[in-house]
Parts: sequence; structure tokens; C-alpha cells
Amino acid sequence: MRSMYDTASYAAYRKSPHRSIKHSTYFETYDALFGRYRGQPITFVEVGVLGGGSLFMWREFLGPQARIVGVDLNPNAKKWEAEGFEIHIGSQSDPAFWRDVVAKVGPMDVVLDDGGHTFEQQIVTTEALIDNIRDGGMLVVEDTHTSYQAGFGPRGYSFITYVARMMDRINRRFHELGGKTEKRVWSVQVFESIVAFHVDRAASNRVSELTDNGGAHDNALDFRYIDDSLAAKLARFYEGSRVIKALPDVRPVVKRALDVAARPKLAARIGRYFR
Ligand SMILES: C[S@@+](CC[C@H](N)C(=O)[O-])C[C@H]1O[C@@H](n2cnc3c(N)ncnc32)[C@H](O)[C@@H]1O
Repeated sequence: MRSMYDTASYAAYRKSPHRSIKHSTYFETYDALFGRYRGQPITFVEVGVLGGGSLFMWREFLGPQARIVGVDLNPNAKKWEAEGFEIHIGSQSDPAFWRDVVAKVGPMDVVLDDGGHTFEQQIVTTEALIDNIRDGGMLVVEDTHTSYQAGFGPRGYSFITYVARMMDRINRRFHELGGKTEKRVWSVQVFESIVAFHVDRAASNRVSELTDNGGAHDNALDFRYIDDSLAAKLARFYEGSRVIKALPDVRPVVKRALDVAARPKLAARIGRYFR
């Protein structure tokens, strides 16, 4: 079985001459996310420098072609510039600071947020940098378990709630839905304590439409229409009633009513998966 000891990121972490502390479950995620960038001339931005250990880890992991940029509130982090890293000092919860960083650094391939881990810091950093990430790149937020802990921000504004809203906007790209849609992030990947936003504007702006492979049609019956549930019976009644169907805008109302009617039985069957 694979473990952190089998990962290139753990090997790089152990090789770093300066201290860094990381959770054992992160290394496989790092390899899965960042493995494809090894040996590539990318711009990699890490928020949270602390003792400098992870800057050296990423240089070892990515290779000498990578441009590694560190960001921290602590001005002492500037000393790592003497080792060939680019360092910017300021607060990740300040949008004006990020505008300055973006102007100086230019387009980024990967951003890894290992800064202060408050909801505000994580969300402001994501919103400030996502537009500056190249297509094919990603913004990765670490220690997202803080969304479930006290002391990182008020309930209702957690980073994971923000991720859920992002998922809503991604799904709203489906052509029948509409509303507020996400046009930069193509997909979101959730790991324990780590969330990755994959940036791809072309894919995010593609129009969703039904396709047909043109194969032979054997008139197979869609069995959802012979289901014996109350909702299915009502649906059949609705589908069979020309009068009701002819009423303007009645379709979504009827469908919603059918969903409500189905709720008690469904709650008994699958409610436990929501607890
Ligand atoms: C978890 S440590 C970083 C550890 C480092 N990435 C490593 O693996 O060795 C968090 C860092 O975030 C910095 N930090 C905290 N709040 C910040 C803020 N508002 N803006 C920028 N950096 C901040 C701290 O000064 C600290 O150096």
C-alpha cells in the first residue's frame, strides 16, 4: 500500500535543510496534484513561509526550472531572497496587497495557500488570485479542516461553505439551470484538509447541450415511468393530463410538489446518509 514514504514530496520535505512541519496525509495529495509540474518552468506561489523549509522542499520537488515565490506577513521572510526565492511581504486578507503582488509576479501556474487558515484569509486569497492563474493551473488551499474548528471565523462564512457555493456555480453551467455561473474554475477537488481549484476558462465557458451518438434506437422504455412510488404515479398523472400540462409555467411547480410528496418516504430510506 502506498504511503507518504513512497512520495516524491515527502522525500523533498526530508531533504529541505530548514524546518517545516506538515501532516502525514498531505504528501500523497501533493504528489497527485503537483506531480505533473515537476521539471516544468512554472511559477509556484506559496502563501506562508515561516521557517523557509517548504520553499526548499518545493524547489527540490519541482526542480530548478520552477520560479518559487513566497508570501508572508512576517518581514523576516525577506531573508530567503538571498537563497534565490522571490518574497513578498503583506497580509493575504488584504485585496490591495494581492493587486500589488499580481502586478509584480505576473501570471501564476500554482498557488498553495498555507498561510493563516482563517476563512477570510482563504477566501480573499482565492478570489484575489484565481483570475491571475493560467489555464491548466490550480489554486490549492491547505488546512481546510479549520472550517470545522472554532477560532477561524463565524459560522456560515467558512471556507468549505464558500467551496459549496462554488460547486453550485459550477453545476449551474448546466444549460437548463442558469443563474450565477462559475467561468474560471472548471472543477474542484476535495481531499482531507486540502481543496484544489482547477482553472480552465475555455472548459468553464463551454455551452452545455444534449448530444446523441446517432446509434440505432430500439425504443427502450425508461423505467422511471413504471416506478410504483407515489411521486412516479403523480408524475404519470401529470404527464397524461393535457389540461394541466397546457397551463403556463406549471411544470416546475408540479415537479416541486412531487418532490415534496416523496419526501417522507425518501427521508426514511436515505435520511441517515445526511446525518
Ligand atoms: C503554517 S505556517 C507556514 C508553514 C510553511 N508553509 C511550511 O510548510 O513550513 C503559516 C505562515 O503564515 C503566515 N501568515 C499568517 N497570517 C498571514 C497573513 N495574514 N498574511 C500572510 N501570511 C500570514 C505566518 O506568518 C506563518 O509564517
